[in-house]
Amino acid sequence: MKMNTVLFGFPGNEELTRKLLNSVDFEIGDCEMRTFPDGESYLRNYSNVAGKKVWIVCTLDRPNTKILPLLFFAKTVKAQGAVSVGLVAPYLAYMRQDKIFNRGEGITSKYFADLICGDFDEVLTVDPHLHRFTNLSDLYSIATNVLHAAGVIAAWIKENVPNALVIGPDSESAQWVSEVAKLAQTPYLVMEKERKGDRDVTVFVHGIEKYAEHVPVLVDDIISTGRTMIETVQHLLAKNMPAPICIGVHAVFADEAYEDLLNSGVQSVVTTTTIPHPSNGIDLLPLFAGHFNSVNLEEEDL
Ligand code: R5P
Repeated sequence: MKMNTVLFGFPGNEELTRKLLNSVDFEIGDCEMRTFPDGESYLRNYSNVAGKKVWIVCTLDRPNTKILPLLFFAKTVKAQGAVSVGLVAPYLAYMRQDKIFNRGEGITSKYFADLICGDFDEVLTVDPHLHRFTNLSDLYSIATNVLHAAGVIAAWIKENVPNALVIGPDSESAQWVSEVAKLAQTPYLVMEKERKGDRDVTVFVHGIEKYAEHVPVLVDDIISTGRTMIETVQHLLAKNMPAPICIGVHAVFADEAYEDLLNSGVQSVVTTTTIPHPSNGIDLLPLFAGHFNSVNLEEEDL
């Protein structure tokens, strides 16, 4: 039997929350959130959650200021009788420090996962940066649901870029770049990348010469400092390729990264809606709505 579900949107997530409420059979969650003058968080839930499932929408770029209110709110609705509390985090943070690279560090991917797992029963995200952990469930002990943007990115390329050559900037990107290229029916190449520091990246591509007539479409999961994309764009321009189109799943864009990338010789920069940003051009609502509607249908059948 289907249980009533209340959906809350955290600040900054209004658009996805509103669209989900229009597309899925959820009750709207009403809450108040503000910051006390001393910087602490005030949270108050006005919705009846007793005996119901709760989902909270909160994408987790710039996670440090979001995580505490999120955990407090999950605890609050649990204390008020919610049967389960799920997190919709279209972008999941702290996925890249997934090993001890240098003596004295910690595996913050794991520590962050442990925090979320302490108060949530389920997490739904899009293309988490999985590198040394193969599955999200290797990190998160709660139920994990992962959506993939490859299909909608491939559809966007098919519709907008005749004669595309899909390019992944590093070996980690091979997993989604090969899938995007297969679905978009284009050739693809994966570059070699060496990262020497947060903003110090070099890239190299073999075999680009035979694609001189193609439009390079760079596809990466995260654009943060933009250095990976910018170095790739400049490498391709130096090889006399046409101005590339850059596609990122997660528009993190630290500091001036977006402006720097726009000024690096690209044709355009397009991202999905996992993080609200002016570059968003590929809407993931159908993925989220499809997921929740199929879960609702399964529950109705039980
Ligand atoms: C790392 O392996 C990721 O897939 C991205 O390539 C990386 O996070 C991009 O970072 P940035 O924009 O800072 O170069």
